[in-house]
Amino acid sequence: MATNITTSYAGLTLKNPIIAAASPLTATADQCRELEKAGVAAIVIKSIFEQSIAHNAHRLADMQSHGEEADYLDAYIGEQMIGEWRTTLREIEAATTIPIIASIACHTTEAWVRYAKIATEERMDALELNLMNIGLASKRTDNGTIEQQFIDAINAVRSVSTLPITVKLAVNLTNPASLAERMKACGVKGIVLFNRPYPIDIDIEKREYIAGHTLSCLSDLSTPLRWTGLLSAEVSNIDYALSGGVHTWQDVVKAILAGASAVQLCSTLYNSGLSLVQTMLHNIAEWQEAQNEETLEGYRGKMNASKEEYANELKRIQYLHFKA
Ligand SMILES: Cc1cc2nc3c(=O)[nH]c(=O)nc-3n(C[C@H](O)[C@H](O)[C@H](O)COP(=O)(O)O)c2cc1C
Repeated sequence: MATNITTSYAGLTLKNPIIAAASPLTATADQCRELEKAGVAAIVIKSIFEQSIAHNAHRLADMQSHGEEADYLDAYIGEQMIGEWRTTLREIEAATTIPIIASIACHTTEAWVRYAKIATEERMDALELNLMNIGLASKRTDNGTIEQQFIDAINAVRSVSTLPITVKLAVNLTNPASLAERMKACGVKGIVLFNRPYPIDIDIEKREYIAGHTLSCLSDLSTPLRWTGLLSAEVSNIDYALSGGVHTWQDVVKAILAGASAVQLCSTLYNSGLSLVQTMLHNIAEWQEAQNEETLEGYRGKMNASKEEYANELKRIQYLHFKA
């Protein structure tokens, strides 16, 4: 039997379900060329962060001058950084033939619109809006306000771009299902579950915040697997990409069974190198053959919450019969 591992995600046809997630591994044209050669089906370019552009421009300008001159320099450096990002998108687009997704992370409507326009002009295949809520949380913010800001950002982007819009969500949301439904109504085509913010830790001797475990581990798969299983049943006709803790080919199969159309890999590429992609693809195809699954679509979502037996497992929170 000839097995078919093609899939479709957010309107893009992918030759297999493996997408390289946004990270420093996807920052340059050379790296993206290598990722394509390694066999990934699509690439999400490292995010452009409005806040870090503003912060870095401000810092550099402050180091070199003061007052009005610093303000001028600040704006000038910011513009240069955005120009460099545009050049990177152009170079990546020219260096690759697989779908390329531009990731943007903003706070102001002005920046969402501007970055989305640039990505569209540079012929990206889709947009990934990096919607993190950590910096927005405050006791003065009513429930639902942050979600509304996400919806506003999507609408602003949609008003200036015809590219398929995908969103990468944070894990700490109150009700991802209602948010996913609202996003779908705004025209969002794909949802990435979930982003992994920069992990922090504390050095208790120096009393300093330090980097935590930058890369994910095997147990990190549990949360995105659960929410993919729940959401793909609850909010259908929108695609899901699972991100977080996918380290082996078996994890890819699990993600598909739970309802994902694709997975996004990052940590495992850092740990094992790009040759892992071919091994994964080979093993997925072999598994499909052994299971008599001609296509990936044939088993996608077969273990999501639309079946009661699986819904019970996915919604289970208590630890029954645990023995240490
Ligand atoms: C060093 C590093 C940099 C990252 N940079 C970005 C980024 O620019 N934008 C983004 O959306 N996610 C970023 N991520 C998150 C990854 O895209 C991915 O969602 C996360 O690491 C979970 O997947 P994994 O378990 O395969 O690592 C980064 C992750 C790492 C480890």
